[in-house]
Amino acid sequence: MKKFIIANWKCNPTTLIKAKQLFNSIKKVSKNTKNTEVIICPPFIYLKEIKKLQKEVKLGAQNYCWEEKGAFTGEISPLMLKDLGCEYVILGHSERRKYFSENDDLINKRLKSALKSGLKPILCIDNISQIKEGLKGISKQKVIIAYEPIWAIGTGKACGYKEAKKFNLLMKKALGERHITLYGGSVNSQNALGYIADSGFQGLLIGGASLNSKEFVKIVKLFSKI
Ligand code: PGA
Repeated sequence: MKKFIIANWKCNPTTLIKAKQLFNSIKKVSKNTKNTEVIICPPFIYLKEIKKLQKEVKLGAQNYCWEEKGAFTGEISPLMLKDLGCEYVILGHSERRKYFSENDDLINKRLKSALKSGLKPILCIDNISQIKEGLKGISKQKVIIAYEPIWAIGTGKACGYKEAKKFNLLMKKALGERHITLYGGSVNSQNALGYIADSGFQGLLIGGASLNSKEFVKIVKLFSKI
């Protein structure tokens, strides 16, 4: 089965030069991965420049508006993202829920709009009710789900493999055995493979370690061995 590595750069790095340096230091492995899709999710403002550095790169956005165009000051629409060559979108990330008051209704609206415009959504959740609410009225097979326990994000305290497996099984029960599920939360090159081998996920959503090119390259190389 195909595997996924998603690099969530969040609000980093602070200049275009640094963003290009970071991408240049990982672009070789991102392209040459056996059976693994490596998706880079930089801030909006770097999407186009990164695409210029490697036209085959798989890009994802970290947020987007649910409308295609119009009077929505400050927003970026799915059509604009597609025009930049963006294929994926992250939504429901706990930082968006916490700092920008996003709730399940809004996330559901975004999901519907992503699917309508042909973007592939990656829905982040930390409990089963967020799956049920977020996916209301949606063909769930089309949505990649990332389990990201809030307490594990950016804390250095990754979820244990057994506990992650338990939650993964719960998700598979709700979504179907073959549904693509990912793990995210303090992933690094030491713990990465266990979430695939022991917990049964198809991939990882990586924050902090995706900004460290050595760490990130190590993780991608590990994936090409399994
Ligand atoms: P982290 O972030 O890897 O820095 O814990 C993961 C995420 O927020 O997606």
